[in-house]
Parts: sequence; structure tokens; C-alpha cells
Amino acid sequence: MISVKDVSYTYMTGTPFEKTALKNISFNVADGEVLAIAGHTGSGKSTLIQIIAGLIKLTRGTVEIDGLSVADKKIRRLVGIVFQYPEHQLFEETVETDIAFGPKNFGLTDAEISARVEEAMRQVGLDASLKKVSPFELSGGQRRRVAIAGILALKPKYLILDEPTAGLDPPAKEKLLTEIFGAIKKSGVTIILVSHNMEDIARFANRVVVLAQGKTLFIGTPRELFAREEILARAGLEPPPITQLLRVLNVKKPALTLDEAEKIINQLVSKKI
Ligand SMILES: Nc1ncnc2c1ncn2[C@@H]1O[C@H](COP(=O)(O)OP(=O)(O)O)[C@@H](O)[C@H]1O
Ligand SMILES: [Mg+2]
Repeated sequence: MISVKDVSYTYMTGTPFEKTALKNISFNVADGEVLAIAGHTGSGKSTLIQIIAGLIKLTRGTVEIDGLSVADKKIRRLVGIVFQYPEHQLFEETVETDIAFGPKNFGLTDAEISARVEEAMRQVGLDASLKKVSPFELSGGQRRRVAIAGILALKPKYLILDEPTAGLDPPAKEKLLTEIFGAIKKSGVTIILVSHNMEDIARFANRVVVLAQGKTLFIGTPRELFAREEILARAGLEPPPITQLLRVLNVKKPALTLDEAEKIINQLVSKKI
């Protein structure tokens, strides 16, 4: 379990550029859960996940991972973080050596490393024939898969993804989410997904933490969130189009998926026509 308690964070304290990025944030992430962190640009999402991963030193509040403080180096093995645009950090000559880079530092045997590379490539839907190819010859979507595979190969217990589909074109985005998310979730890893796409949150998250200007506006299920128009408006977030459509039709019950919306609309039609 990850436990975040009363975390506040200010950048450049004591300078004219002082900026409070987080104020009194508290929540837990249960094992096996997909927790989304949503909020407008600048709301503090990236700061929060970097604190959870131990990359920004905590100054107020506590973060514990499986009972260990984030300051403890042991958590490095538990938490894997995929930054925004992770493909910018690819630098090895081949896909294989890039994915193997992290596991190599874990003191594993060559056979173990190669098994991890193969498994991670499978999980992100990259064909094994791409092993010897340079990442720079791949498409943007494929490069992102390589970068994500590099983190999966570390076999983290907790995986943090910061806007994993940002900047991809719609088909690449859809493929990445359905294929990769399906595989990752099956492996039982606990996920923190930073996103401002409410459709993605509706489909993949068990719970959502909504941040606005560094404060928690809401913690609950996506279904509860989409019923709270005022929260979404205050956070500057748009509900999924299908939820908006049902709202226009004056349906009080929020629908999260196309299937749900279809059922509700069929009920409406059979009553009224
Ligand atoms: N390295 C930094 N130095 C100073 N201010 C920062 C830094 N990183 C982020 N901030 C500020 O902290 C706030 C939260 O930023 P961030 O955590 O990146 O939000 P988000 O990921 O939700 O867009 C913003 O006002 C941002 O300008
Ligand atoms: Mg960010």
C-alpha cells in the first residue's frame, strides 16, 4: 500500500519565485488498484508523483510505501515511474539494450535480463523481431512502448504513469491504452495513472484523486466524479463525451461506457416512442 499523508510542497522556498505546488494532500493506494490523478495543467500532478517515487525530497507530510518511508532507498525497487514523453530518454543503440538498461543495474544474470526484456516487449505489444532495431527508427507510438517496457522490465510493484498517451495520435493512443493497460493490469501491478482524459479514467481507474491548484478537490470513483458537475467545472475537466450526451438528454444517471449509455438510451427510447 502507498500512503500519502498531509503532503505539502513549495518550490524555491524563500525566493521571489516561491510557488506552492501541493497543499495537505492525503490518500492511500491499495495493492492491485488503478488510482488516477486528474487535474488541469499546473495543478500539481507531476510534483505529487515525483514525491511518491522519491525523486523530489519531501519537506512536509509523510509518504510510506509498504511501510517504508520514501526517503528509504529500498523503495526504488518497488516503484517504477514512466515520465511524460518517456521516449525522449531513450539513448541506447537497440531496443533490446535500452529495455535491458535498468535490469542490468539489478545484478541479474544475462539469461534473466533477456527473459525480462522479452516479457516486457510482449506486455507492451512490441514484436520480438524489433529487438536489434534502433529505437530511433521506430514510430513515436512504438518508441513510447520501448520506454514503458524499460520500466516494466524492472518489475515494479507500483507503476506510475504520467500522461502516458500525451501527444500520440488517436489510433496510437487507443492501441497503447487497450493493449498495454490490459497486459499490465493482468500482471497485478498497482498503478497510479496521471491523466486529464476523463474517458481514459472512466475505462481504467478504480478511483480518482482530483487536484486543483495543489489541493484535493475530490477522491472517489469515476462514477461518483462524473455525477459531480461542479467539481469537474472547478477542476477545469471535461466529462467523457458519452456522459455529456446523456446529460444533454436529461438522464440523471451518469454512464461511463458506450455499453452503459446504449442500455440507458434504449430504455429511454422504449418508454418515449
Ligand atoms: N521545477 C519547478 N520549479 C518551480 N516551480 C515548478 C517546478 N515544477 C513545477 N512547478 C510549478 O508547480 C506547480 C505544479 O506543477 P506540476 O506538478 O508540474 O503540475 P501538473 O503536472 O499538474 O501540470 C505549477 O504551478 C508549476 O509551475
Ligand atoms: Mg505534469
